[in-house]
Amino acid sequence: MEKIETKTIKVDSKEPNKEPIKEAANLIKKGKLVAFPTETVYGLGANGLDKEAVAKIFIAKGRPGDNPLILHVASREQVEPLVEFISEEAEKVMKKFWPGPLTIIFKRSSLVPDVITAGLDTVAIRMPNHPIASEFIKASGVPIAAPSANTSGKPSPTEASHVQEDLNGKIDMIINGGSTGIGVESTVLDLSETPPTILRPGGITLEQLKKIIPNVVEDLSIIKDNKDIIPKSPGQKYRHYAPKAEMMVFIGEVSAIIDAINEYAKKYIAEGKSVGIMATEETKDKYKEGLIVSVGSRNNKETIAHNLFSTLRLFDEENVDIILSEGVDLSHIGKAIMNRLKKASGGNIIKL
Ligand code: TXA
Ligand code: MG
Repeated sequence: MEKIETKTIKVDSKEPNKEPIKEAANLIKKGKLVAFPTETVYGLGANGLDKEAVAKIFIAKGRPGDNPLILHVASREQVEPLVEFISEEAEKVMKKFWPGPLTIIFKRSSLVPDVITAGLDTVAIRMPNHPIASEFIKASGVPIAAPSANTSGKPSPTEASHVQEDLNGKIDMIINGGSTGIGVESTVLDLSETPPTILRPGGITLEQLKKIIPNVVEDLSIIKDNKDIIPKSPGQKYRHYAPKAEMMVFIGEVSAIIDAINEYAKKYIAEGKSVGIMATEETKDKYKEGLIVSVGSRNNKETIAHNLFSTLRLFDEENVDIILSEGVDLSHIGKAIMNRLKKASGGNIIKL
């Protein structure tokens, strides 16, 4: 691939300056690639109606062509031309959760290029809740196709520096708006079929959705460990969010987790391996050896979601051989966290 110069511009997240955002939007209009912050993770954006521009996203990320992309919009009006119809159910969900970390799957219209949907008859749409993302989409005047701005398979980027690490020389611009808030990707909700189905757990939880659409269910691939179940969201079938190191995730009573991690750390260190321990504020002092990093507080799982991917990247930078990670309970955003840990570890979950 030809190397291109990647320009980084810094923009204040709270009060974005319109000039640099206009410059980024002009690049989009010319079919170029621009990474930008959202409230979940950084996205790698292109004009969603320009199939050549969208094709470049797949090349820059090394993304398999059968994994469809999300179209990002800044207004409700932008949705209509992209979908076959908007159900009453979809109206209610959009009204309640947009802008926000919820991606909705609709039946697509013919305006949406095949390269976006990977040939499916549905399209994923999201309205991000981030001042830079909104301004940028508005200024571009088109729906912005954007997967997470990481190399395919690596942890998603929650800082502009992560995007730089992965995509420098492969994309045209990075809008640096500081660290992203939520830290894990949006919930993907399929409203193209009945019952409404969560295909990927994320920032908006099952409990929150149930209040608006009581018949919502979770895709079997989220609930079951059975490897034979094929997820409906193509992206969910890949090993993902994965650090270079081998990874083990421990679930059960916290005291049992601590004992097990200490034991494994001792064993691996004795074998001459370097060990990273993904601990929490409540437990970090209980570990004896290894590179111990607190990912956040068990009592405030939002902090764990926020730091999760950057902590995985940190272990990579430190070149650890093995990451021993605590698991969390599945309440609230815990489900999204465990989904990412499961994928990052290739399903290497140890139940105690
Ligand atoms: O928070 C997010 O959603 C971030 C930010 C940048 O918006 N984006 C993101 O995109 O996570 P990506 O491409 O990394 O993940 C999109 C997920 C994939 O699992 C993909 O398979 C699924 O959405 N998806 C996209 N279109 C779909 C469709 N038509 N049907 C089913 N799943 C779809
Ligand atoms: Mg991704």
